[in-house]
Amino acid sequence: LQAVLRQEQCLFSSAPPQPVPPLSQTLQRYLQALEPLLPPDELAHTRRMVHEFGRPGGLGSQLQQKLEFRAKHTKNWITDWWVQCAYLANREPLAVHSNPAISLPRRDFNDWRSQLKLMSGGKLASEHMRGRPLCMELYPLMFSSCRIPGPKHDSIAHYGTYGRSRRSPTHITVVRNYQFFQLEVYNSDGSRMTESQIHAQLLRIRSQSWKTDKEPMGILTSEHRHTWGAAYNRLLRDKINRASVRAIETGLFSLCLDSPVMRISDEKYASRKAAQVLHGGGTFSNSGNRWFDKTLQFVVGEDGSWGLLYEQATAEGPPVATLLHHILEYCEGPDPKRAPLIPLPMPKKLYFYIDPEIKRDIELAKQNLDILINDLDVNVFNFKRFGKELPKRHKLSPNAFIQVALQLAYYRVHNEVCPSCDIASQRMFKGGRTEYIRSPTKEALTFVLAFDNRSVSKEVKRQLFREAVDAYAALTDLALKGHGIDRHLLGLKLQAIEQGLSIPKMFMDTGYGFATHWKLRTGQVPANTDSVICFGPLVPDGYAICYNPQADHVHFSITAFNCCEETNAETMAMTVKNTLCDLQELLEPTI
Ligand SMILES: *[C@@H]1O[C@H](CO)[C@@H](O)[C@H](O)[C@H]1NC(C)=O
Repeated sequence: LQAVLRQEQCLFSSAPPQPVPPLSQTLQRYLQALEPLLPPDELAHTRRMVHEFGRPGGLGSQLQQKLEFRAKHTKNWITDWWVQCAYLANREPLAVHSNPAISLPRRDFNDWRSQLKLMSGGKLASEHMRGRPLCMELYPLMFSSCRIPGPKHDSIAHYGTYGRSRRSPTHITVVRNYQFFQLEVYNSDGSRMTESQIHAQLLRIRSQSWKTDKEPMGILTSEHRHTWGAAYNRLLRDKINRASVRAIETGLFSLCLDSPVMRISDEKYASRKAAQVLHGGGTFSNSGNRWFDKTLQFVVGEDGSWGLLYEQATAEGPPVATLLHHILEYCEGPDPKRAPLIPLPMPKKLYFYIDPEIKRDIELAKQNLDILINDLDVNVFNFKRFGKELPKRHKLSPNAFIQVALQLAYYRVHNEVCPSCDIASQRMFKGGRTEYIRSPTKEALTFVLAFDNRSVSKEVKRQLFREAVDAYAALTDLALKGHGIDRHLLGLKLQAIEQGLSIPKMFMDTGYGFATHWKLRTGQVPANTDSVICFGPLVPDGYAICYNPQADHVHFSITAFNCCEETNAETMAMTVKNTLCDLQELLEPTI
């Protein structure tokens, strides 16, 4: 594992800095992205503003110069701003709204014995993080880190080692029945514990955490960030609470041992499993086992459901998926070491002192989380008709294929195209994070309008489909070169703010606001496993659609809020399935 990460480290050290794209290119491509979304008169208005912003010697070019200067003098010109804006300053609850969940294929364990066994293998991931200052910075940063709520603004705390001087934390936290334990995963001689040692320790935790009337402290972390920020300060007034919270925050990661939940139909099982990892199922279920601020939380249920819930301020999907891949590989291998014959210290139970104020905070948090969970509709399914192989046979990019399919599906349900964003990694650049790809293109719109029109011939539809897929693939290429538009626009806006200027008019434009109200948030996890990622929509009247294409099938997760009358996850799921079948029929007609 260390070797793999060292390779990544080399890749990283030679990674070039993230470029600032040329201003005129970004502005031109921004207008192109608005074309399929705005009516002509609004577009004309926006075009005038953009031209004014971008005229030679104008505000845009001044800000551009400053950005280029910033790029020369910082590791990455956008990452810090992005993390602040997208995460730390964002006040929405982390539960559902922000933290993505990765639901993994059900393991063959139907009882708690193997539930514990699995995680004693999983803990091995921590090994490579120990004491080694990897320069592929995101990997070590993911361990022993936690988001810290603030009344106005959050921060991230990293407790791992960077230099050789400081000792890294050597424990994880284990939560069961709302009770937190600090579990050392290294022996006193510095060697990591073996599977059987950890297993024995987890058994001890199990026997100490029979269901009681314990307060579900973890639910506090699911609150609106202002609310939790204030409650956090109240909680930390007490010394016992400070020590317990600190143990959770510094731990390598959290392990949530969830109780079994009610059996439901197989058809709904995948959805319930993903929701379980995402939010814990509610205050009467396992939500009290989460600490949503923690960067990495492994969730293992007694019924075989398991997965990973992560907080994105430290790392987004792509490095998390890579890490998970390493962990799964590692779990496959046998544990080579024999346990040293030394008695292990008892796992330390973390206590909380709950005064009436905190008690009230918990009650409010419970109510709010249950409202949020009841409002979220999660629909996970495995599309079995075909996978990546089909687009590949036709020399089409599989991801672009699915993106255009989603545009068509959305159009079929809502009779319009909507602002949608897909995510592209920027990790090929030093300190790079992510970029958006705005999926609706002019080509996609043309195709979508033609597809259900009987007077358009199949040949023409095929041609239009190919053009739409290729247009999307070209956008992806640009984004991967660091020439996306969204981070650049954000940079220009924040540069103006940093200089104390008023926000440029082009960002106050209704077109700008409309086109960044992401009604469709998508994400692909390119994983070799049958995992599925799941998160909530970015806006109240939107969807999040994630997918993981395998060779001959595709896993999908679709979420929407119940309180929004226009959206419906199940209708969208049905439409996506039908649309994919129709596209197969278009490319490979059976009659
Ligand atoms: C269907 O396609 C035909 C031929 O391209 C076009 O004339 C017609 O306007 C289209 N109908 C709709 C409803 O878009």
